[in-house]
Amino acid sequence: MDLGVGRAPGKLILLGEHAVVYGHRAIAVAVSLGTTVRLRPREGPTATGPGSVEDPRMRAALAAALPQSGLEVRIDSELPIGRGMGSSAAFTVALLRARAALDGRIPTFEELFRDGFALERAFHGNPSGLDHTVSALGGAILYRRGEAPVRLNMTRRELIVLDSGSAGDTAEMVAGVAARRPAVDADLAALGAIVERSLDRLNDPEALGALMTEAHAGLRRIGVSTPRLDALVQLALDNGALGAKLAGAGGGGVVVALTAAPDPLLRAAAELGIVAMRCMVPEG
Ligand code: MEV
Repeated sequence: MDLGVGRAPGKLILLGEHAVVYGHRAIAVAVSLGTTVRLRPREGPTATGPGSVEDPRMRAALAAALPQSGLEVRIDSELPIGRGMGSSAAFTVALLRARAALDGRIPTFEELFRDGFALERAFHGNPSGLDHTVSALGGAILYRRGEAPVRLNMTRRELIVLDSGSAGDTAEMVAGVAARRPAVDADLAALGAIVERSLDRLNDPEALGALMTEAHAGLRRIGVSTPRLDALVQLALDNGALGAKLAGAGGGGVVVALTAAPDPLLRAAAELGIVAMRCMVPEG
């Protein structure tokens, strides 16, 4: 018998990752893949049960968010871990929803944002708050650290996600960019400026695609891309994508491609053994 259940979606960052840590704005969209946390009664200390997703970093979050005894936690996730798709934020928000459900409550956004930030810090060191904000709100979000998030009105659109096959560590990637400052500050500002330029072009796929590809070049300059991610961006562009970029912290993870005709890219990815996912940008 479940005492509390919570679910939350993962995300893709369309524009503005890393720059958002330094006060620039970013755009992220929730995706249909997500994480579910189920809480059941158990004798003894609170712990994850059989079949649950296991990640050592989750233990600290469970200890911080739940009573120390009496609960079995089951975590199910469709999100690949460490691939820039917001698996830790989805887990965090799902956990907080499950905890509130124990008391028969639906948590407010303010509660999810505040308590989620504390848990996300345990995962990522110095997060901007973008990931758990979009996971808590869903839809498409324009976000600046320290300001209320703004919902964006975007046309429902398909994105193709290409998996590099390796994980990136967000805390490590964010710390790496911090260590390269101030040399990369102009590039971070340029990444922020791309977001501002995109705001009146969000429903113009050609313009948005070009800005995504420009953002990938900026992310490469700040040192968070890899040869594999660059090759996946090129594969997308060679197969009809309007634009493509790494999405999330980089160092591994995924590339997101905007395309009006996904079939050539999906075929090319399949021929090369690259895992490709189709994701919808939700209508805002
Ligand atoms: C990670 O999904 C996005 C980053 O901008 C870090 C953050 O915003 O906390 C790299």
